[in-house]
Amino acid sequence: MSDITKILNTDPKKSCILIVDDEAANVRLLEKILTMTGYSNVICTQDPTQVVPLYQHHDCDLILLDIDMPILDGFGVMAQLNELTNNTPPPILVLTAQHMQSFRQRALDNGARDYVTKPFDASELLSRVRNLLDVQMAHRLTQHQNALLEQKVRERTQIIYDTRLQVVRCLGRAAEYRDEETGLHIIRMSKISALLGKAARLDDEQSDRLLNAAPMHDIGKIGIPDEILLKPGKFTPEEWEIMKTHAQIGADILAGNDSDLMIMAHDIALTHHEKWNGTGYPNGLKGEEIPLVGRICALADVFDALTSTRPYKKAWSVEKSINLIKSESGQHFDPLLVDLFLKNLPAIIEIKEKYGEPE
Ligand code: C2E
Ligand code: SIN
Ligand code: SIN
Ligand code: FE
Ligand code: FE
Repeated sequence: MSDITKILNTDPKKSCILIVDDEAANVRLLEKILTMTGYSNVICTQDPTQVVPLYQHHDCDLILLDIDMPILDGFGVMAQLNELTNNTPPPILVLTAQHMQSFRQRALDNGARDYVTKPFDASELLSRVRNLLDVQMAHRLTQHQNALLEQKVRERTQIIYDTRLQVVRCLGRAAEYRDEETGLHIIRMSKISALLGKAARLDDEQSDRLLNAAPMHDIGKIGIPDEILLKPGKFTPEEWEIMKTHAQIGADILAGNDSDLMIMAHDIALTHHEKWNGTGYPNGLKGEEIPLVGRICALADVFDALTSTRPYKKAWSVEKSINLIKSESGQHFDPLLVDLFLKNLPAIIEIKEKYGEPE
């Protein structure tokens, strides 16, 4: 009902007032008092069953509600109005006969804001109408400003989120730029990682984070000289020692940030070359000492590296790569993750094909 795009009315004279009374003479009188005073948006009904639809359709600012009506009395109408799943209680001014003291009290207890007694005293009626409309206008203004603020916060949050994702993707591309031309490896590897993450029962937020953090796993390759990184053949032992520093370099680059995303990216960069049996680098961690996301990325990374062309190797077939992964279960890789990998092979191969290198 409070649609933020709608222009906010703060002029009480233009606010929508709904008159509800089963007696035509009362309706006419009230309407006349109000319109002569300058209220320009007055609607009337003698049918109490129409109050809820009219109120909703016109988004009324005030309801002048007769209590004593046949079929559905004012209390019945109020009960219907109170049931609307609308955060603002409807602004109701009840109209009761002078001798109906008990009605007035009950009406106030049931959500009426105020009352006037019949026969109407025009100036009293107008004062009460004016007071209630002032409150309603203030209320609408607050609601409107809250909605605007919330929208602004949402927009800003989205911009921050988008910017962060873009920066993170640029970092990932920078990591791949020198030894992989298309950037498709990180896309495949990240998607396979997120898929394995889901299979390993990470929740949606965590697997989404994994999708965004995994592209930075090799950011440390920035610190490896060309003649090593791009070497067409096998490394000397000295070159290998230098190459292995890319895990720690990546962790250093990503260290010192406090967002969940950057913390995960750091953990992945540091541990994606650790092995389940403890023979990996840089720290020789073993089994579950290696963070789950590191174990996941290790598997996704090797599978995609094996099936890809590198400066130092040709692409392996999927079959040969799967055989290596099976033989490394419990050695290089977490055996539970290898099981999940094999169970999810069709989806993994689909990712390979969808993001395959152009011919
Ligand atoms: P990368 O090319 O992205 O490979 C990632 C990981 O996939 C490797 O980590 C390794 O575990 C696996 N892998 C890739 N190709 C093969 C392969 O032909 N056989 C086997 N068994 N496993 C393979 P690793 O070994 O820690 O290497 C890390 C990075 O070091 C590699 O990333 C690559 O950039 C570089 N690298 C490794 N060996 C060589 C090499 O002989 N020559 C050159 N130029 N670079 C190498
Ligand atoms: C690449 O540099 O082509 C990918 C290396 C990796 O992700 O391990
Ligand atoms: C995310 O991990 O994608 C958002 C949460 C955060 O920045 O820490
Ligand atoms: Fe690496
Ligand atoms: Fe990789």
